[in-house]
Amino acid sequence: MNSLKENENEQKEDMLARLSQTETTEILELIKNRRTCRKYLPFQIPEEIALKIVDAGRLAVSARNLQPCVFYLIQNRNLNIEMGMKIEKIALEQLPTCFDGIDTAGALERIFYGAPTVIHIFVRTDGYFTKFVDAGIAFENMLLAAESFGLSTCPCALTKLFGNEIVREYLCIPSNLDLVMSLSIGHPSPDFKKVSMPRRMDNIIIIKEGEDPRKKGEIKEIDN
Ligand SMILES: Cc1cc2nc3c(=O)[nH]c(=O)nc-3n(C[C@H](O)[C@H](O)[C@H](O)COP(=O)(O)O)c2cc1C
Repeated sequence: MNSLKENENEQKEDMLARLSQTETTEILELIKNRRTCRKYLPFQIPEEIALKIVDAGRLAVSARNLQPCVFYLIQNRNLNIEMGMKIEKIALEQLPTCFDGIDTAGALERIFYGAPTVIHIFVRTDGYFTKFVDAGIAFENMLLAAESFGLSTCPCALTKLFGNEIVREYLCIPSNLDLVMSLSIGHPSPDFKKVSMPRRMDNIIIIKEGEDPRKKGEIKEIDN
């Protein structure tokens, strides 16, 4: 009995030791310190780095390993700017307030913000019901991979909302692919300031070992 307990304790210690290692890995620092960048240097990022970033998306977990995503890696800054300008125009016509509250001072266009590289993520239209979750996971993998190289990023859903036709036309997208969103990637401009974007503190509910949520009474509603 005692040796069983010792063994269990050893296993626990072993696990805790491994846990503390994972807690201090750089990925958590990346997640904490990352901020959306809307100011890029005009220089292109090396193709081998861009390929590693898109590979982080390709390698992502997906439901039943069905891999519904298709990635378009566009390393053509002029093309990105041209598309960005067209999509920005449509966005302003349809929703004049869509850039309110975002610091876009000096931006060439307010879709890809002059980023030299943009990855558009699509899913197959006949994909499994989890296809958009799969795409979100692949998207975050690529975003963190880019940040891990010291690059900066901006997620963009406005391509989906206002630029679907432009993206499809410019990139000759086949009809069985559905645009999910786009990711701008580039070297941050020296005047890119990381603005603190506070996160909520009330949206984690914890049930500890031995606790039963049904005996805790109603958990209060979370405000919008
Ligand atoms: C799904 C999604 C779509 C987004 N779309 C846009 C966008 O179209 N344009 C933009 O400038 N930022 C976009 N963002 C960036 C968010 O505005 C930004 O992440 C948020 O304000 C928090 O700021 P932070 O990334 O600096 O922490 C998007 C982010 C996500 C997750």
